[in-house]
Amino acid sequence: MGHYLSPPLQRLFDRLAVADQRHSLDVLYALQEKGYNDRDLLAAALLHDVGKVEVNLHLWQRVVIVLLQATWPALLDDLAWGDPANWRYAFYIQSEHPEIGARLAKEAGASPLTVELIRRHQVPLHQPGGSREDKFLRVLQEADGIR
Ligand SMILES: [Fe+2]
Ligand SMILES: [Fe+2]
Repeated sequence: MGHYLSPPLQRLFDRLAVADQRHSLDVLYALQEKGYNDRDLLAAALLHDVGKVEVNLHLWQRVVIVLLQATWPALLDDLAWGDPANWRYAFYIQSEHPEIGARLAKEAGASPLTVELIRRHQVPLHQPGGSREDKFLRVLQEADGIR
């Protein structure tokens, strides 16, 4: 797997939760099994959900919030992240993780094609064009099992 990711991109991958790393490797293996070996595509397979790194801390915070609600609600009221707006953050990440991931990958030096595949990975391809990007996007989405 390592040779598809430069050291900065590998560090990004390493920040994913273990379950998300596992899922990303499954997508990589599914593409390899079909004979795909394009480096930009396989890097996108490994990093397509990398925008979710920004929610991992928040999920941990949510556990703390639940515990505090049960044991020490007054303290929770004093904490900024007890704000109800934060409870919607997980949903925000679910819809925005492709855009966030594309930005993180670009900042870490991913190729333009890899960045675009990450950015578009959850957008339905109603009329795929003949471009390499659209073809890769379709197989990435198939491997991702989202359509
Ligand atoms: Fe995704
Ligand atoms: Fe995914």
